[in-house]
Amino acid sequence: IQWEKRVRDSAQVHRPDGFSVLVTGAAGFVGTHVSLALKKRGDGVVGIDNFNTYYDPSLKKARKSLLQGRGVFIVEGDVNDARLLAKLFDVVAFTHVMHLAAQAGVRYAMENPQSYVHSNVAGLVTLLEACKSANPQPAVVWASSSSVYGLNEKSPFSEADRTDRPASLYAATKKAGEAITHTYNHIYGLSVTGLRFFTVYGPWGRPDMAYFSFTRNILQGKPITIYRGKNQVDLARDFTYIDDIVKGCVGSLDTAGKSTGSGGKKAGPAPYRVFNLGNTSPVTVPTLVSILERHLKVKAKRNVVDMPGNGDVPFTHANISSARRELGYKPTTDLQTGLKKFVKWYLSYHGYNRGNNVN
Ligand code: NAD
Ligand code: UGA
Repeated sequence: IQWEKRVRDSAQVHRPDGFSVLVTGAAGFVGTHVSLALKKRGDGVVGIDNFNTYYDPSLKKARKSLLQGRGVFIVEGDVNDARLLAKLFDVVAFTHVMHLAAQAGVRYAMENPQSYVHSNVAGLVTLLEACKSANPQPAVVWASSSSVYGLNEKSPFSEADRTDRPASLYAATKKAGEAITHTYNHIYGLSVTGLRFFTVYGPWGRPDMAYFSFTRNILQGKPITIYRGKNQVDLARDFTYIDDIVKGCVGSLDTAGKSTGSGGKKAGPAPYRVFNLGNTSPVTVPTLVSILERHLKVKAKRNVVDMPGNGDVPFTHANISSARRELGYKPTTDLQTGLKKFVKWYLSYHGYNRGNNVN
């Protein structure tokens, strides 16, 4: 009863025509920011996260405290738990599901392939089954990835480009996710929006990602490893700042409409959409490092090695004209500015400005 009340309170809407959103992966990097933004404008938000140990769970706990302080309740659980999902949909008539729970990271797929299948394929299907059977059916917005473009050589990447050459198992599970969600759309009339995020960075970010681990190592005086592509060409990423991604997510929820399907029995003309959410200006990894050095006022010990062939693509570059047109998406933060904000957060979170130089 106590649990139900907390879920219900958290889902409470505080603006006219507001949404009740179930955010999966809410204690994750993107999930935290999206949940905060929705709560701030008066939407009801309930989070679910399994707090797995892929990276430091204390960071996930800290994000959870932040969220709970703002009135967002996080249920500790797995999206593979069909009974838990059914219970949540029983307690709240969610208008939208923002599905961000996943096993992320491209290189870790070589170490633990099953974790990608568990969360990104089986977990996705379990979640979609719950959405399909809910009455009303929620509109689903979920995180795909720029990695679906794989070894695409055409630049910039447009949504209609080929996605048949994934470079990692992670990418393959995201591509599978696109096929799976599309199927639920046309069989069950579920409204689906897939967002292909391009290398997202910012405060409360992921310690497994390059900008974060480079910052840690540079501050600790440890070497960093920079991967270089074939023919000594630098790798490049269309690094995208978290606040821009959040705006794209919220814009997707706003334009997804409230699905009205009746318990999954009536297939309707609900939309299936896919959008790139990137920054449109790729930057090489050595340039990323130079910007960090400038903000940290410390020189990196650079160790440049050939790309080990473990899932990295040579470059990413988003064409965002669809998202611009249909979601009003317009990234406004360049890498210099965004990294400055990240570094400020990093130093404060790790207590550097309190004289702690060991973390
Ligand atoms: P993250 O790892 O910080 O967040 C994912 C959260 O989901 C984590 O807190 C994790 O504990 C949780 N989770 C994982 N499996 C789960 C499961 N089975 N049940 C319940 N919770 C589970 O990652 P993020 O960077 O916030 O990414 C969010 C989404 O965006 C993911 O789907 C990711 O694949 C996608 N994405 C991220 C980026 C990026 O650069 N950050 C780029 C492209 C796509
Ligand atoms: C990121 C996320 O980690 C994925 O979850 C996401 O799906 C993907 O973006 C995406 O856009 O779809 P990635 O771009 O590989 O993946 O992000 P990082 O791990 O931060 O790597 C960024 C760049 O730095 C890559 O070119 C990588 O090769 C390079 N790198 C990474 C290094 O040079 N050294 C390292 O130690 C780590």
